[in-house]
Amino acid sequence: MLVLGIESSCDETAAAVVGESGRVFSDVVHSQVELHAPYGGVIPELASRDHLRNAGPVVREALALAHVGWNEIDGIAVTHRPGLVGALLVGVQMAKGLAWANGLPLVGVDHLVGHLLAVFLRRSTESRDTAVHATVPEFPFVALLASGGHTAIYRVDGPSAAEIRELGATRDDAAGEAFDKVAKLLGLGYPGGPAIDRLAKNGNPKAVALTPPMGHTKSFDMSFSGIKTQIAARIREHGRPTSEVELAGLCASFQATVTSVLSEKLIKAAVHEGVRTVVIGGGVAANRELRERVAARAAEHGLSAFLPELASCTDNAAMIAYAGLIKLRAGERDGWDLVATSATSLPRETRKGRGHR
Ligand code: KG4
Ligand code: ZN
Repeated sequence: MLVLGIESSCDETAAAVVGESGRVFSDVVHSQVELHAPYGGVIPELASRDHLRNAGPVVREALALAHVGWNEIDGIAVTHRPGLVGALLVGVQMAKGLAWANGLPLVGVDHLVGHLLAVFLRRSTESRDTAVHATVPEFPFVALLASGGHTAIYRVDGPSAAEIRELGATRDDAAGEAFDKVAKLLGLGYPGGPAIDRLAKNGNPKAVALTPPMGHTKSFDMSFSGIKTQIAARIREHGRPTSEVELAGLCASFQATVTSVLSEKLIKAAVHEGVRTVVIGGGVAANRELRERVAARAAEHGLSAFLPELASCTDNAAMIAYAGLIKLRAGERDGWDLVATSATSLPRETRKGRGHR
């Protein structure tokens, strides 16, 4: 079975061809980072127009790189929630048109479910006939999803949204959002995660004392806006770092604080749930220190940690194709009335600014 995935929920236009057991045959991502850079954030109307320009070429390239024609594709999966509605609409309408024209089944995928299942993707340059033998996590597992728009810990009993339960989430900013906002304060550009990750590598994580937000509370809820405020206050008082050492120290201190909260909460949640496996996903899962901390703390607790390959962490269509493949295999289909919507289908326990309901 081969599924074409299409993703356009935010500022990446992406298409991918994925097969059984998560084999990635192609994965094309067109980033709009440069388009939005002058504005310091994503401008929804510009995003929609750029998706419109690039969706066709990106799909054609995904098929060409996978060396497949339409007759070899068994279904189309498209992100239809959550995200910018105008951006999502471009992918959804394109998926409908392609499914109709080629007589293929169509299935809508929740972007967050895609991130949670990205760990099952297998990227390989070998031929399509070669089986993939890498190990994959078994259900149930506890997963940390940390991206630019969402940060939550889930118990995942199976691949469908109904089998995924939120154990805790950020009450304010997402972890990736904190990386982006701190990078902006430091004049490092957007997106901030990779820049801070790079600079933090050579910095002293004890250079600046920062209070870990909700680090010691028992709940699995998190908060990342306070740490950004601590850094903003510091910059107001002392100005931006003037030396490389100072900048690296600030980045290392910030990153250590955020990644320790994320990894500790993940491990605690797994122990609380009596689950033996932990998984991470989303753009922040590409962070070197988060990956090291999760692997180390899991080992200390005798848990297995599964980390997606780096290209599977940030937004891509391969994770959408795979999540769609599982739905299609289970006989699920969506009709021409599939709608784009800004909200996730995953149950949310935590509300921004309000904590547990
Ligand atoms: O999953 P993603 O590509 O898009 C969303 O669904 O939001 O995540 C993007 C986020 C951005 O906030 C970016 O700064 C962050 O992931 N990110 C990182 C790293 N790479 C990307 N954060 C920390 N370290 C990284 N290496
Ligand atoms: Zn994402």
